[in-house]
Amino acid sequence: MPVEDLPSKVILTDPLDPNTNLTILKYGATIISWKNHGQEQLWLSEEARLDGSKPVRGGIPLVFPIFGKQKDPKHPTASLPQHGFARSSTWEFLGQTMESPVTVQFGLGPEHLSKEMATAWPFDFTLILTITLKENSLVTNISVANEGAPFEFNWLFHTYYRLNDITDTLVNNLVDQTCYDQLLTTSYIEKAPAISFHEEFDRVYSQINPARTIQIIDKGKVLFNLHRDGLPDCVVWNPWAKKSAAMADFMPKSAFHQMLCVEPGYVHSMITLMPGEKWVAEQEIELGGEIKIQANIY
Ligand code: BG6
Repeated sequence: MPVEDLPSKVILTDPLDPNTNLTILKYGATIISWKNHGQEQLWLSEEARLDGSKPVRGGIPLVFPIFGKQKDPKHPTASLPQHGFARSSTWEFLGQTMESPVTVQFGLGPEHLSKEMATAWPFDFTLILTITLKENSLVTNISVANEGAPFEFNWLFHTYYRLNDITDTLVNNLVDQTCYDQLLTTSYIEKAPAISFHEEFDRVYSQINPARTIQIIDKGKVLFNLHRDGLPDCVVWNPWAKKSAAMADFMPKSAFHQMLCVEPGYVHSMITLMPGEKWVAEQEIELGGEIKIQANIY
């Protein structure tokens, strides 16, 4: 069966290969597993809470309507938790919309929020998440519609990739991009031809040309190609030893070696949506292929 609607999750299976499948928790519409020909592509903590008691540590949590914590105490998102409420609300499964490639949709609106969240952020919005499982890629498309007063928001696909070893991993095609280092709290131009990792890393790259494909490379082999549409910014994060030790739901403690978050989004500034307007964006994670050097695309 290509789509199984279970009480707390939805499982998609590629009709051509039962070992290519996807598991989506209704809580947060969080993709918690993506197997391609039997091989898991996403990192999920062994201590991740999958019972709806807290956002999932791993997979693809969704960040909306605020990235991090709002710094302006007067902004309507000021009282929301870190990374907003999309990842900690139970979405409605809207069903299958296409047979091949297998595609499903989830929806979230004010009626799905806890009373506390609906009061904290009292806007009339509709989120539709469309997920397509392909033979060699995973597409996540988000639309945000405004049916009431104007509002501002961020969006982010907080994707946790599974790696062999972070110290053998490079992230390509971010050279010459403006980045804000969240640890140093300063902005500069990234000059590394490819990013490597040897300590805690938390940077927000902004306004990246959509023609640039962000690549995650393991010892010269391309693991993932991130194609982005409407997602100009990208957060790159690895908590390393000390920070992961401090996170109760991060397990095993050595697993910072096996994960990296590369998170396309719209977080450098906020999107303003006027009444009746809709915003749409998409990420496609394509597996394998050749190394592409796109340093000359500005
Ligand atoms: C990243 C941020 O996107 O998410 C980091 O850049 C943050 O600063 C990380 O620590 C994890 O956030 P959380 O709320 O899931 O612990």
